[in-house]
Amino acid sequence: MPTEPRPPTPPQTPAAPRVLSGIQPTGRFHWGNYFGAIRQYIDLQATGEAYYFIADLHALTTVREPDRLRALVHDAAVDLVALGLDPERATLFVQSDVPEVTELTWLLMTVTPMGLLERCHAYKDKKTRGLPADAGLFTYPVLMSADILAYDATVVPVGEDQVQHIEVCRDLAGTFNHLYGEVFTLPKPRLVEGGGRVPGTDGQKMSKSYDNTLDVFEDPAAQKKKIMRITTDSRPMEEPKNPDDDHLFALYSLMAPEADRLKMADLYRRGGFGYGEVKKALAEAAAQFFAEARARRAALEADPERIEAILATGAERAQAKARAVLDRARRACGLARGQTGKPIVTGKPAGRETRA
Ligand code: ADP
Ligand code: TRP
Repeated sequence: MPTEPRPPTPPQTPAAPRVLSGIQPTGRFHWGNYFGAIRQYIDLQATGEAYYFIADLHALTTVREPDRLRALVHDAAVDLVALGLDPERATLFVQSDVPEVTELTWLLMTVTPMGLLERCHAYKDKKTRGLPADAGLFTYPVLMSADILAYDATVVPVGEDQVQHIEVCRDLAGTFNHLYGEVFTLPKPRLVEGGGRVPGTDGQKMSKSYDNTLDVFEDPAAQKKKIMRITTDSRPMEEPKNPDDDHLFALYSLMAPEADRLKMADLYRRGGFGYGEVKKALAEAAAQFFAEARARRAALEADPERIEAILATGAERAQAKARAVLDRARRACGLARGQTGKPIVTGKPAGRETRA
């Protein structure tokens, strides 16, 4: 008996949040990445199901050296685990290990208005500056949408610069659902709290692009030298200062235990101290703050197979989830012949026999 096509199964809203985020492996992580993103991923892994991936497909739009890309992906995984991402709790994987996502990208591409992508800032900025942009950069938000929708993610922790992309994702998911039934779960962005804008060594926002970073796993002695060169104002030592206006103090606050932070704030308000002292204290606090992670990193680095095994397990778990979502989407939009519950050739498999 031919059966009627089954409508796509509506995704269940999970009771606990399903958290997902991706991070590009474009260089060593700096303090801005840690306080602005990674720390939150680590905190959120305790709240529900969590998927974190290293966005190597996205990185391909900027990293063009294959060996370097491979090394960056491996290092990013080592760094994340060393910093506390627990592969027993969260699924850690590499984006390109789940090719279902790229197929899903195409399905979404067919419902993506050009104008929506033209308004996205990464592409728009390049265009405004007269720089050449490729279709990879242009369609970047669609790949990012597929990343999110492939895992039925409900919560996506990101920095402010990525909120626009989550809106695109919600938009595309909404259109697809409108056309084909309730296929996708709509995610919500979750802005990283605190650590909103970690300053760099020159007082501007810390960023790889400004060459003002302090890296999480930098050698402490080399890092101390960088810290000693952090720009400060030239007010005389005696003058009391407001700690809240000072980027050096902002950095110290991220690293130092609360009691030390309060003591330092007091010193600022009283005056009569030199920035050199604050810098030394900052270098020590930072070395302490990341000491445990540094030790974990050394152990992981000595055992590269362990990281590869973690990533392989992660990919397997992630792929199983993405496969189910992709199948749902394929069935809904009319691909996946024969999987709709309605045979293409009705009746018994005589059709096949006749053809054979
Ligand atoms: P970069 O600016 O160095 O290229 P990315 O754009 O790769 O850094 O940032 C990766 C993540 O780290 C993003 O979620 C971003 O919001 C966060 N982040 C980067 N720099 C900072 C900063 N200075 N302060 C707070 N968060 C940051
Ligand atoms: N575009 C993000 C960034 O540059 C990384 C990313 C890729 C991502 N896919 C994602 C983040 C999906 C959240 C969800 O920081």
